[in-house]
This record gives sequence, structure tokens and C-alpha cells, in this order.
Amino acid sequence: MTADLTILYDTIRWEEKSIAEAAKKSSAQTQMLDSRTLALDLDTKAGAYGTVLQRCVSYYRNVHSTAALEGMGAPVINPLITGVSAGNKLYTHMLLRKANVRTPRATVSFSKDAALESMDNVGYPCVIKPTVGSWGRMISKLNDADTASGILEMREAMYPIYQIHYVEEFVKRPPRDIRAIVVGDRVVAAIYRESESWKTNMATGGHARCCEVTGEMEEMCIRAKDAVGGQIVGVDLMEDDERGLVVHEVNNTTEFKNTVRVCEVDIASMMVEHALGTRGR
Ligand SMILES: Nc1ncnc2c1ncn2[C@@H]1O[C@H](COP(=O)(O)OP(=O)(O)OP(=O)(O)O)[C@@H](O)[C@H]1O
Ligand SMILES: [Mg+2]
Repeated sequence: MTADLTILYDTIRWEEKSIAEAAKKSSAQTQMLDSRTLALDLDTKAGAYGTVLQRCVSYYRNVHSTAALEGMGAPVINPLITGVSAGNKLYTHMLLRKANVRTPRATVSFSKDAALESMDNVGYPCVIKPTVGSWGRMISKLNDADTASGILEMREAMYPIYQIHYVEEFVKRPPRDIRAIVVGDRVVAAIYRESESWKTNMATGGHARCCEVTGEMEEMCIRAKDAVGGQIVGVDLMEDDERGLVVHEVNNTTEFKNTVRVCEVDIASMMVEHALGTRGR
């Protein structure tokens, strides 16, 4: 079959099902493709995939399959540059700064002692994050130097990526953050993620509430998307008490189930239309 659209996955979540449903409603020839069945000869041209919507959950499978398919000539959403840039919080931080998008103050250090020095400069509390990771995993709020020292000691015994000590200031904000979904050149919906915990993302138990998209928010999100060369992304923002909106993450393969649930926007259809190049403004 010559497909117009290929939905590439490793796990079928609600999101992948809803994209498949939306594609079925369009006239496009669509295939669902399990990345684990791929056996790609990298020295050939890509087969008849059409546009590939990259939906692999595994970061490594995601960027490597994108590199292969894009290199073989298939258009992939998002492209490799986005997978690499948005998949790493330090790379994203540098690109956001370059694009003049406000983002939390951050430092990087490559040893325990240097990290403790950075934290003294940033001030406590601060937040240490793996540069590559999601769902809030291994992100810690450090309230003082003793806690920081313990966490750094553990990180020093882990896989080398965890010895990259990326630290952000703790942003003073309401008990929520914002996830905005960008499709092409529009923010199609946004939610507040509210929680009693300091981590407000959905994976750690946050609750979703529809958030009005302001002009300022939309403009920042589009700049953030462009900074990482993306097409369909989820932009995470916080409302700093003094500076206003700051962007702390751009998600390359964004989840949107809760956004659809509370905002009642058909995000999957917008993604499919965008991928097929038929989406009007
Ligand atoms: N610098 C910060 N100051 C205050 N709170 C923060 C900061 N960074 C992150 N948080 C909180 O922690 C949560 C998780 O952080 P972040 O989005 O960076 O992690 P993640 O692993 O990429 O999670 P997800 O993929 O679910 O978005 C955020 O939703 C926010 O509530
Ligand atoms: Mg996030």
C-alpha cells in the first residue's frame, strides 16, 4: 500500500487511537506502523510511508527511527532536529534563550562540587532535572545544601547522563502550570495543570482545567516551537509571579488526552489535517 500518512508508534495510547480514528474519517490512505516491526535498510530510499507522524514513547526509539526515516527521504513530524533539541532540557533552554523566549534561570555543572556551587548561586529551593526524561521522573526540588548533596551523590553513581547536573531556579508561581498544544502556526488549546504537589504535570497527579489562550501565550508558544524546529508540539509554561509567562519545556511527542477532555477540541483531526497539508487557517 502507498500510504499518505503513517502513524509510527511503539505503544498505542488514547492519543494514537484518536489520531487513527481522525485519519479514518479523512480520505487519506493511512497505516498504523509498529516501530518494533521495522527492519530498515539505511542505504535505501524510504518506502511509501507518506508523511510519518512520529508517536513513539521511547525517546531513543523515537529519535533513532526519525533519523533513519527522515534520512531515507520520508517527511517526519516532528523532524529529527526537534526530537534532539526538545528531547533535552538543556538544549531547549539554550535555543529558547536564543529565540528570546523567557525561560527559568538555569545552570549546568559536571561534578558534584561544581553543582553545589551553582546551587548556592541560584539559591534554594532549586530544581534538578535529568536533561533527557519526561513524566516528571527523577526531577527533584532541593530545599537545602544537605538534600542537594545527597541527591548529587546518588546521581554520581548513575548512568553518565545523570552526571550532567542541570539545575533550574524554583519558579514562584500559582500551584499550576500550563500545557499548550501547538499545531502548525496556532495554539489549538491549552490546559492548566493544577496540583497540591509542587510537580503539577498530569503524570504526577495534576488535574486539568481548560485555560484561555492569550495573545502573549500564543506568540511565546509559536516562538518556542520554532526555536526547536517543530510542527506539532506541547509547550509547558509557568506563570512567574514577577516576570509573567516562562516556558520550561517543549514536548516533541505531546500527550493531549486531558486537553481534549476538558477543552473539547478535536486535536487529533487538526494534527491529521496538518500532516496532510490540508489544514486551513
Ligand atoms: N523550575 C521549576 N520551578 C517550579 N516548578 C517546576 C519547575 N520545573 C518544573 N516544575 C514543576 O514540575 C513539573 C514537571 O516538570 P517538567 O515539565 O520539566 O518535567 P517533565 O519530566 O518534562 O514532565 P512532563 O513530560 O510530564 O511535562 C512541572 O509540570 C511543574 O509543575
Ligand atoms: Mg513538562
